[in-house]
Amino acid sequence: MKIKTIKEIKDLKGKKVLLRVDFNVPMQNGEIQDDTRITQSLETIKYLKTQGAALIIMSHMGRPKGKIVEELRLTKAAKHLSKLLNTPVKKTENVLDDKVKEEAKKLKNGEILMLENTRFRPEEKDCDPAFTKELASLGDIFVNDAFSAAHRKHATTVGLADHLPTYAGFLMQREIEALSPIIEEEPIRPLTLIFGGAKIDTKIEVIKSFIDKADYFLIGGALANTFLVAAGFNVGKSLYEKDKVEIAREIMLECEKNRERFIIPHDVVVADEISETAETAHLPIEDVMDNMKILDIGKWTAEKFNNIIEKSGTVIWNGPLGLYEHKPFQNGTKLVASSLARHNCTSIIGGGDTADALKRVNVPAGGFTHISTGGGACLEFLSGKKLPGIEILKN
Ligand code: ADP
Ligand code: 3PG
Ligand code: MG
Repeated sequence: MKIKTIKEIKDLKGKKVLLRVDFNVPMQNGEIQDDTRITQSLETIKYLKTQGAALIIMSHMGRPKGKIVEELRLTKAAKHLSKLLNTPVKKTENVLDDKVKEEAKKLKNGEILMLENTRFRPEEKDCDPAFTKELASLGDIFVNDAFSAAHRKHATTVGLADHLPTYAGFLMQREIEALSPIIEEEPIRPLTLIFGGAKIDTKIEVIKSFIDKADYFLIGGALANTFLVAAGFNVGKSLYEKDKVEIAREIMLECEKNRERFIIPHDVVVADEISETAETAHLPIEDVMDNMKILDIGKWTAEKFNNIIEKSGTVIWNGPLGLYEHKPFQNGTKLVASSLARHNCTSIIGGGDTADALKRVNVPAGGFTHISTGGGACLEFLSGKKLPGIEILKN
């Protein structure tokens, strides 16, 4: 896949670059839990800066639905970036207003201004033309380095390309180069997909697109709960998505036509509170009761997953298998991650939270072929779908 990269920009000196990154990093109690997405953007930022450009950095954080949500401000991310670069990073109060325009105008070569969470404005998600045009007026060039948000057609991931010369950053380029062989060449089989995490709405569609491509599907995390409901089990007070139950049922039926290749948990770890000291129980799925929350896969399910991993030639994994932010619910992710790291196969890990989870359970990154910063984006890319944030970068 050929894309235009920042190396092709002739003269960056004195140019104002609108740079889209994805600093949607895992946060807990107001602190950054894993800064991979920030450190992975440094190469692009440093290059643009040393070439003499002035940077206006844009990112989203979480899903604030077009409103200001105090906990989702980018203050901590801007501070962290400033520390990593050892250079001032000024963050604006709002995404776009007169003050922001003033700040952007004043920006000198090599200086960095970071806009507030772009999703505080409803126009971001709507890719609103007027908003996009106004935003584009702040700069001369648009650089998209947010691979992990490339599956979203938003003002700052796609819209800006209508107004400005557009290029990919180095992280975008690295991700495309690492992931392309998986779709361009026939993968070493069996091809196994492990899905977990909480973004059911995004991921369930991707699973569907893999039905004809993958050999095994191993499902954990909150995502599994929707499939468990579809299979007729009681999931108590667990997180699941009611309006996705029907499609979950269709996917399972479709997969089971030939043989057992769609594995949902048959034992789980439950608790009635989510904390570091939560009292847990390990139960067969049939024994889950109304007051319980499923928060991890059980060890027998992990063992079943591992048996399939051991015979796989390629494994793609997105989404933690439990609520890994708390110790009592890390075991499933830990068992499966350790098994995959030991096994000699092509292994692709995707997702901000999945990468964070691997760190927390002390499974080193060296055990995997590639750890992508993208979750949903990585999956959609690997399913062969065209990502709008990448389409704008093609020659
Ligand atoms: P990724 O960022 O890797 O793509 P997601 O954002 O989809 O993954 O999901 C990660 C989140 O899923 C984590 O916050 C984790 O706590 C949550 N999660 C995983 N399993 C469960 C579960 N059983 N119940 C509730 N939340 C869960
Ligand atoms: C992610 O964390 O996968 C990206 O930042 C995209 O987030 P979204 O699913 O809220 O668009
Ligand atoms: Mg996530």
